[in-house]
Amino acid sequence: MQGTELRSAYLEFFRSKGHQVVSSSPLVPQNDPTLLFSNAGMNQFKDLFLGAEKRSYSRATTCQKCLRISGKHNDLENVGVTARHHTFFEMLGNFSFGDYFKADAITFAWELVTTVFKLPEDRLWVTVYEKDDEAEELWVKLAGVKRERIIRLGEADNFWAMGDTGPCGPCSEIHYYIGNEPHTQSKEGFLRDDGSYLEFWNLVFMQYDRSPDGTLTPLPKPSVDTGMGLERMASILQGKKANYDSDLLRPVISLCEELSGFRYDGGSYVPRDLRADPAYARDVAMRVAADHSRATAFLVADGVRPGSDGRGYVLRRLIRRAARHGRVLGFTEPFLYEACDTVIREMGGHYGELTAARETIEKVVLAEERKFQETLDSGLALLSREVEKLAPSAPLPGAVAFLLHDTYGFPLDLTEDALKGYGRAVDHEGFR
Ligand code: ALA
Repeated sequence: MQGTELRSAYLEFFRSKGHQVVSSSPLVPQNDPTLLFSNAGMNQFKDLFLGAEKRSYSRATTCQKCLRISGKHNDLENVGVTARHHTFFEMLGNFSFGDYFKADAITFAWELVTTVFKLPEDRLWVTVYEKDDEAEELWVKLAGVKRERIIRLGEADNFWAMGDTGPCGPCSEIHYYIGNEPHTQSKEGFLRDDGSYLEFWNLVFMQYDRSPDGTLTPLPKPSVDTGMGLERMASILQGKKANYDSDLLRPVISLCEELSGFRYDGGSYVPRDLRADPAYARDVAMRVAADHSRATAFLVADGVRPGSDGRGYVLRRLIRRAARHGRVLGFTEPFLYEACDTVIREMGGHYGELTAARETIEKVVLAEERKFQETLDSGLALLSREVEKLAPSAPLPGAVAFLLHDTYGFPLDLTEDALKGYGRAVDHEGFR
């Protein structure tokens, strides 16, 4: 099942269960000062959960554009290194605003996963919040999940909150064993978290509103908020070990292969020494390009422009970070605008805003890349000279990181990212 079919299959399934299909809200939240970017499908429905808004429907389903690059949910540092973290991703979700609760959420999820997606039950695992006896019973009774495949976890894993405040509740996640030796599956293996068990769907049983002092006030009515990672499910259904090998992300990697002449191997997600292993560093760079080009194209389409603070600075950091990785691939000229064009071609069918903004995206990205070209190489040369002077494993002095920031336009996280290649960190205190 291609990504596009998967997106439709999900929305159609929930439409058939009485859900209103609602469009994704923009990446820039419209009415929520607590949020820099949309980070979950439920954001646009926050007031419905809180009971502050009513609509003509009490069930909805969406495919939401999300960006996890700031605040409580930030995956930037994992991008390119792991097989499945992204800044930009699409979250499929179904929602109940005081309509159904745990039982239907579980029944729907199991039906979709086992009958539409046809995932074998003997590779599925479920987690529940440690105090949620009811959820465990429902998984056994309604879905027929074997008790030994249900794992109880604490608040860090199985209690979901949008941010420091707002709707939240215990959650239950479905995982899929993607390893090659299904007979070795075990609870111990699951808890070891060695990458063989992939979490792909989070069902949140929304029950509380968290206030700034941490108090949990019950919501007017128990509700449901779920989130399935489209890229993760695509990788499962396409028999791939990593999201980057799915049809949703692979095209930009192929473009990087073409432009650079290097082949993408993609074999390893065990972090390696970037300098000792240039082929691995290039794989990471191609994955970063695949990720950042999507985030960049969608941000520009949603009206964000590179700038020196707030959302604009996030976009600038993404473009500059990608440009630095481009150097690893040997690109001496701007390339991200071309990668964005591939994104538009691949995703513009579902997201008309991308196609509509094609020229703007190209212009904005190319201009930012050009501007950074002027200082990127001299900054990298300076960085390398400064690292040579350091004692083994000493961090880069704050003053150097600041000079790079101030004069060469290196955001701090770009310097830190570049330093990973040298196994070094920045002296943060000094930088501040
Ligand atoms: N809002 C939940 C999440 O993002 C579904 O995981």
